[in-house]
Amino acid sequence: MGNPATDEIEQLGAAAVDRITGAADLDALAAALAEVTGKGSPLAGVKRSLGGLDADARREAGQVLNRVNGDIGRAAADRRAELEAAVRAERLAAERLDLTEVRPDRSVGHLHLVTQAMEELEDVFVGMGFTVAEGPEVEDDWHNFTGLNIPAYHPARDMQDTFFVDLGEPGDVVLRTHTSPVQLRVMERQAPPIYVVVPGRVHRNEARDATHLATFHQIEALVVDEGITFGHLAGTIEAFTRAYFGEGFGSRLRPSYFPFTEPSAEFDIRRPDGTWLELGGCGMVHPTVLANGGIDPERYTGFAFGFGIDRLALARHGIPDLREILSVDVRLLEQF
Ligand code: DAH
Repeated sequence: MGNPATDEIEQLGAAAVDRITGAADLDALAAALAEVTGKGSPLAGVKRSLGGLDADARREAGQVLNRVNGDIGRAAADRRAELEAAVRAERLAAERLDLTEVRPDRSVGHLHLVTQAMEELEDVFVGMGFTVAEGPEVEDDWHNFTGLNIPAYHPARDMQDTFFVDLGEPGDVVLRTHTSPVQLRVMERQAPPIYVVVPGRVHRNEARDATHLATFHQIEALVVDEGITFGHLAGTIEAFTRAYFGEGFGSRLRPSYFPFTEPSAEFDIRRPDGTWLELGGCGMVHPTVLANGGIDPERYTGFAFGFGIDRLALARHGIPDLREILSVDVRLLEQF
């Protein structure tokens, strides 16, 4: 014959679990728990009445009671976790800050005009078969100067007033003064053929004025392959000029000097009205620089050029003062 006490305990337990699972919030859960397990609860009454059973029936009922209490405890813990998660989610939703600003009267923004110019230049060079490479803005002396054939005593160092970083031996670590150090970095990690352009930010310890900034942008090109000649350099600059500025523009090279190229030249852009815009420096990569990059100068030759991006970007928009680049005035930025 079954034990009537165990059936009752099972039923009371199932009802208690239902009550707990149905609690709508944490207060209701606490109340339900007190109601189904507290002193005045039906289960507590059954427990008290176990004393009137014989030993076997009492042991059996006691085991069932323990299991049912365990079920109730687990149901309560599960429900509490659910309700607490719901409270958290609700609070997060309430405290969430909406930082998006949707202004139906205007477009949501655009890239800075220097970034626009940089990306357009990249596109033009990628269209000519170059890939885009990058290098660090904090450079060591070797890559920024010495490895580029600019020894310590060389006056070219004075042309590029340098910000030094207080790290290592004095003078060892600099903010790169040009993108040319990436020439060496590319040669170190890649064997020829090399056809890369390197856009990036550079720094010089200069007073700011209408035509100078202490932080500005350059793009560098490096080609190293077998049989590369000065003709390839001139042709590449001419092709780039037409692609970027448009038909009706042209280029010319003027003899010049850079320690890391031999021969070296400066290049100018001819505007359709016949006036010239000085753009940058170029030349055949110096054999010493190729060797410093781990490339055999007997087998390979190359050319490089580099120029500033900021002035170009401003010239396009007819802005006369370089310092406008740093402006955060929305009335100005919105015009581009
Ligand atoms: N790095 C030079 C500068 O900042 C520009 C330059 C000149 C880059 C000649 C070159 C080059 O690649 O061949 O003034």
